[in-house]
Amino acid sequence: MTSQLCCLVLMGSSLKGKVTLITGASSGIGAGTAVLFAKLGAILALNDKDVENLKKVPKECTECGDGTQHLLVPGDLTDEDTVKKTVEEVIARFGRLDVLVNNAGILAFGGIETSDLATYDRVMNINVRSVYQLTQLCVPHLIKTKGCIVNVASVAALRAYPGTLVYCMSKSALDQFTRCVALELAPKQVRVNAVCPGVIVTNIFKRAGLDAKETAVFLEKSKQTHALGRPGEVDEVAHSIAFLASDAASFITGVSLSIDGGRHAMSPCEI
Ligand code: NAI
Repeated sequence: MTSQLCCLVLMGSSLKGKVTLITGASSGIGAGTAVLFAKLGAILALNDKDVENLKKVPKECTECGDGTQHLLVPGDLTDEDTVKKTVEEVIARFGRLDVLVNNAGILAFGGIETSDLATYDRVMNINVRSVYQLTQLCVPHLIKTKGCIVNVASVAALRAYPGTLVYCMSKSALDQFTRCVALELAPKQVRVNAVCPGVIVTNIFKRAGLDAKETAVFLEKSKQTHALGRPGEVDEVAHSIAFLASDAASFITGVSLSIDGGRHAMSPCEI
C-alpha cells in the first residue's frame, strides 16, 4: 500500500463515528468539510446563522455518508446564549464531542482610516470572541474523548495585507490562540491545530461587499498572488481539516498549516 493510500485509510477510518461540531457549515469551507466528514463516516453537528442554507446540508451529508442522521444547531454564535445552547444540544443528543471545527467567520474590507469600531466589533465578535467562548465550553468534553480542535485561520494570520486590517488582526489572534491552547491541552492529549487558507472560491467575498465583477477581478488576480497560479477550492481545505482531525495527524499539535498554493512564502504581500 502506498503511504498516500495508508494516510487516506487512516484518515477515513479514524473519523468514523467521531462526533464533530462544525461552525459556519451552511456554505463554502464549512459545508465542504461537513460533506467530506460525512463521507468519512463522522457524526455531524452543524451550526450556521443562515438557517435556510443550513437545512440543505444534512441531506447532502446523509446521502453521501452511511445514512447517519446529522444534528442541526442553527444560530448566531456572537450570541452567548446560542453558543451555550449549541454545546448543550450536541452533548444532549450524542453524549460526547470528539472534534470541534471553528470555521464560522467573516471578511471585512478597510484599513485604519476607514474601519470604524462597529466593524472592529462585528469581525472580532465572530472571528475571535465566539471561538473563544465555544472552545472554552467544548474543552471539558474534548478532554473526556481525547479529541481535537481545528481552527480555520487564514494566510492573513501569517502575513500583513493592506485594506483588511481587522480581518488580519482577527485571524492572527486565532493563530496564536491555536498554539497557546495546544500547549495547554497537550498534557490532556487534546490536539489543537489551524489551517491557513489562501484565497478560496466561496461566497465570502460577496458577503464582504464585492459585486460579481469585483470578485472576478479579485479571483483573476489570485493567479498572480498564489505561487501555484490559481485560487484554491473548498475541497482542498476540507481535506486538510480532515487530515488534522484524524489519527493520521496523531503527533501534530500547535500547527498552522498553510493551504494557500504557496502564498505565505511569497513577497511582496498584496491582497
Ligand atoms: P462563507 O461566507 O462561504 O461561509 C462562512 C459561513 O459562516 C457562512 O455560512 C456564514 O453564515 C457563517 N457565519 C458567519 N457569521 C456567523 C455567525 N455569527 N454565527 C454562525 N455562523 C456564521 O465563507 P468561507 O470562505 O467558507 O469561510 C469560512 C472560514 O474560512 C472563515 O473563517 C474565513 O475567514 C476562512 N477563510 C476563508 C478564505 C477564503 O478565501 N474563502 C481564506 C482564508 C480563510
